[in-house]
Amino acid sequence: MAWISEDVIREIRYRNSIEDVVSSYVTLKRAGSNLLGLCPFHSEKTASFTVFPNTESFHCFGCGAGGDVISFVRRIENLDYPSAVEFLAKRAGITIVQDDRDKERMQRRKRVLDMNVEAARFFRSCLYDPKLGAAGMRYLSEKRKLDPALIRHFGLGFAPNDFGLLTRHLSKLGYKDYEMSDAFLAGISKKNGKSYDYFRNRVIFPILDISGDVVAFGGRVMDDSLPKYLNTSDTPAFKKSRNLFAMNFARKHCEEQLILCEGYMDVIALHGAGFQNAVATLGTAITPEHARLMKRYTKSVIISYDSDEAGQRAADKAFKLLSEVGLETRVLKLDGAKDPDEYIKSFGKDRFALLLKDTKSEFDFRFDNILKKYDTRLVDEKLKAIEEIEGVIAQVPSAAGREVYIGVVAEKMGISAEMIRRDVDKRTRRAQKATERRETERLIAASQGIGDRVNTDFVKNPQAASCEEKILGILLLHPEYLYEMKKKDKAPSAEDFFTEFGKKIYTLMFEIDREYFDISALGSALSVEEIDRLQKLQMSRTKLANNKIELLYELLETLKHAKEKSELSLEEIIRRKRDQKKMP
Ligand code: GTP
Ligand code: MN
Repeated sequence: MAWISEDVIREIRYRNSIEDVVSSYVTLKRAGSNLLGLCPFHSEKTASFTVFPNTESFHCFGCGAGGDVISFVRRIENLDYPSAVEFLAKRAGITIVQDDRDKERMQRRKRVLDMNVEAARFFRSCLYDPKLGAAGMRYLSEKRKLDPALIRHFGLGFAPNDFGLLTRHLSKLGYKDYEMSDAFLAGISKKNGKSYDYFRNRVIFPILDISGDVVAFGGRVMDDSLPKYLNTSDTPAFKKSRNLFAMNFARKHCEEQLILCEGYMDVIALHGAGFQNAVATLGTAITPEHARLMKRYTKSVIISYDSDEAGQRAADKAFKLLSEVGLETRVLKLDGAKDPDEYIKSFGKDRFALLLKDTKSEFDFRFDNILKKYDTRLVDEKLKAIEEIEGVIAQVPSAAGREVYIGVVAEKMGISAEMIRRDVDKRTRRAQKATERRETERLIAASQGIGDRVNTDFVKNPQAASCEEKILGILLLHPEYLYEMKKKDKAPSAEDFFTEFGKKIYTLMFEIDREYFDISALGSALSVEEIDRLQKLQMSRTKLANNKIELLYELLETLKHAKEKSELSLEEIIRRKRDQKKMP
């Protein structure tokens, strides 16, 4: 991603009004000159998420998230700063002009992509060539039972058993040896420095990214020799930790659900059977980047990994990663087959569809495990089982969900739903109280600077730190003060600030040598959490009447004195907190 000039960023922000952008994610209602909606960053029932069209900013009074349109996109699309800018540029139809280094990188990427298209065409034509591709075609259609339409749909190909067919073809088209090796299509011989075909005697699976570019290849042997698969390593056009096989097709069929498999062949078999929402990672374990990619396209993922032990272990790991990004995740249990491909071949697509419907939700999974643990024919064991199950139900967030499970359990265990409901209610109330208590403690701690993740030094000298936050708030509200102070040589230096956070923010402000700027101008150097804090500092100043420059000078004096007081030791901080708690 290019370094983008400030002018262009301004243009991008101008053409993406905050109201417009937020509206495509959140339903907003007008409230005076502002707009209100349910916060997309935490769960809430009453709207505290506010959009300020006048200042082109947003702030949630519930969770504290805030910032400009770029930081909104960073958060909601899970993007870093440059990607968020790019995202908005695309949205507004603005082309970003690259600087030289990026131009070169883009050109290399383009060369690789162009070459990949040629290679994919070449592999495909080999597969359909009766002389060159007979072995490959036999393997795909007879051994793997793929029908011709499916082979065509996935653009499968064949790399003949020859060291020079593809490289000669590509060099005729004007591609250089080093470019072929860049693209992972050729190796360079150590003996004579000549290039040779990397994929040989393998069936070829082209890998397309979401925009439909051919970014990589996988090649499988047709017997038991090793390695079974060769895959393109990372190239200027491809990062395997970021791409999913068949996502280019699945994205149109996965609003509700994605099926995540381990292998290419699983995905192809599933698509062939009508499950066009199947994808696979590319010869690597699932990464957080994969999880975020999926999150952009779907609500829930069904993990359908191999039934062997390695597959189940991988499924566990995937389950964690996917749940962490907020995807509803379930694991499919394949009985009687090694993987989805074999399952469909042995039992047919209708059985697989049943399996999909029947995937165990986390609740069922835990319910079954509890029942396995106890012998429910014995009264006291049955009671223990019920108690444990009630504990599980109490953790279900929605009341409707709890009600459904209460019904299921009542029927299965032969006791009245009313009784279970009473127990569960008791537990949820208790849990709710505990949560509220924890939340209160967290708020107190935060206001004291304890557990302050953004301004971690706050706690060491709360007086100095809160003074400097006031200063930053005023400067954000009136950047012209800083400009004025600089001209008069009265501006403080970063070293006058106490916390690392304060120093960092002030340095950023200082470097912008302009009379007017806003938080957005600092955005590229800050995390979204830091932006939240600045937004909050600025907002808390707007509510106060006095924000004159004289106050700023006073605060700077106060800061100087507050700083002179020694830093509190950790023991002291804890002692003070304890004392505070004793007070009513
Ligand atoms: P089939 O035997 O063709 O059905 O393969 P599969 O799709 O069932 O694959 P398998 O379960 O053996 O492996 C899952 C995935 O891991 C494959 O699709 C490949 O992406 C990757 N993989 C398997 N073997 C190798 C290998 O030897 N090298 C590399 N780099 N990746 C492999
Ligand atoms: Mn397989």
